[in-house]
Amino acid sequence: MKITVLNGSPKGHLSVTMQYVNFIQIKFPRHELKILNIASTIKKIEKDGKAFQEIMDEVRSSEGVLWAFPLYYLLVSSQYKRFIELIWEREAVDVFKNKYTALLSTSIHFFDHTAHNYMNAICDDLDMKFLGSFSAGMYDLLSEKRRERLTLFASEFFDGIQNRIPTSKRFSPVLYRNFNFVPSPAGHKINTQGKRVLILTDLKDPQTNLGKMIERLKNAFAEEVKVINLHDLDIKGGCLGCIQCGYDYQCSYGDQDGYVQFYKNQVKKADILIFTGTIQDRYLSSRWKMFFDRSFFHTHTPSLVGKQVGFVLSGPLRQIPNLRQIFEAYTEWQQANLVDIVTDEEEESKELDARLQHLAEQVIHLAGISYVKPKTFLSVGGMKIFRDDVWGKLRFPFQADHHFYKKHHLYDFPQRDYKARMINALLILLTKIPSMRKEIYRKRMKEEMVKPFQKVLEKMK
Ligand SMILES: Cc1cc2nc3c(=O)[nH]c(=O)nc-3n(C[C@H](O)[C@H](O)[C@H](O)COP(=O)(O)O)c2cc1C
Repeated sequence: MKITVLNGSPKGHLSVTMQYVNFIQIKFPRHELKILNIASTIKKIEKDGKAFQEIMDEVRSSEGVLWAFPLYYLLVSSQYKRFIELIWEREAVDVFKNKYTALLSTSIHFFDHTAHNYMNAICDDLDMKFLGSFSAGMYDLLSEKRRERLTLFASEFFDGIQNRIPTSKRFSPVLYRNFNFVPSPAGHKINTQGKRVLILTDLKDPQTNLGKMIERLKNAFAEEVKVINLHDLDIKGGCLGCIQCGYDYQCSYGDQDGYVQFYKNQVKKADILIFTGTIQDRYLSSRWKMFFDRSFFHTHTPSLVGKQVGFVLSGPLRQIPNLRQIFEAYTEWQQANLVDIVTDEEEESKELDARLQHLAEQVIHLAGISYVKPKTFLSVGGMKIFRDDVWGKLRFPFQADHHFYKKHHLYDFPQRDYKARMINALLILLTKIPSMRKEIYRKRMKEEMVKPFQKVLEKMK
């Protein structure tokens, strides 16, 4: 059988993910895994229609498609995202229809599920027959047990194709509605109180709902706020995954383009960031993805700490909870405050007016009181992954992170909470006595657990 492997790594054949594909090839010599470097050659694919067509021909003549990619910023790389856009732009959707398919990624498991949800949904949108997904930890290939699991996955994939097993979709198609936003003038203008507001966008047509939402938002402020269009920026390309930045946060693009200076001088200096864009195949545009990927020169160190962040989006966000989670996780992990996500899904223009006006008020108000909402599992859990990996295997490639984590006491393990350890030891000892055990677990547990909180409340009185 011939399987087309669509390589989503900007590193081409030198990709970690491709070593997993090479492993499968060695294990299953009777099948041909034809690797096509998509992300690393995206500029050629974009410019040269023939190059794109050759890829489509390969897909057409193969029995299955393996989407193999590294995780990039909770999704796939901007280059891979661009390829996905091209499938629709160049009307090649039919090439994928009814092809058996599977996903294989490598990552450190930081939001690998959102990338897999996204890719699964793309396969569903392409009417492919989805056989499953495999999210490998980037070092899994070094473990025999995990290699065995990968072998089983590949075997199931090949058998599934050969036996033409029935498959089902996980995601319903996204429905777009026709709604023309007719904005009203802002009722009152909000004083920015010296806060620097930066609106980022990838807007192409000011007459669209997005264009009108941005104008309406701008008009809510008494002072002129800055709007930067990502298309006007000098960005030569997506993140190359070279991780030169790991040593000292220096991007290998350096001064070859304007991204790093833009990020340092505009994005990081703003107090309030409003990200605006149009939903395109279940994410924002690949240009937006490039913005996020290139910010990786900060590696695993948050770079937007304490900022107020808002999103203004055109498109069916309510139908794509995965995308909402990506934005929530992104801002939370950055230790910024996600104020609101306003979309043009409101029923009427006046409701959307009110939401945009309120967003403008809230970002200024919350910046004034320096409010950052408490973290949830998204960043509490995510940070533990980074902490463990930067402490361990990733310490050498990401030395800059290591210094930051040490300085900011992010290595909060093993926990040296001596008081808790002593209390635990004493109580565990006491529970060895049956009567005490009964007393503690049956009678006192609830009371004892609220005592420390009650003490705080009593002090307040
Ligand atoms: C720009 C960039 C963004 C990344 N984002 C994530 C991420 O969101 N989650 C994750 O688990 N790993 C992330 N990684 C780690 C890579 O997914 C991981 O190292 C992968 O194995 C690289 O595979 P490759 O060599 O095939 O490109 C990121 C790496 C880079 C360079």
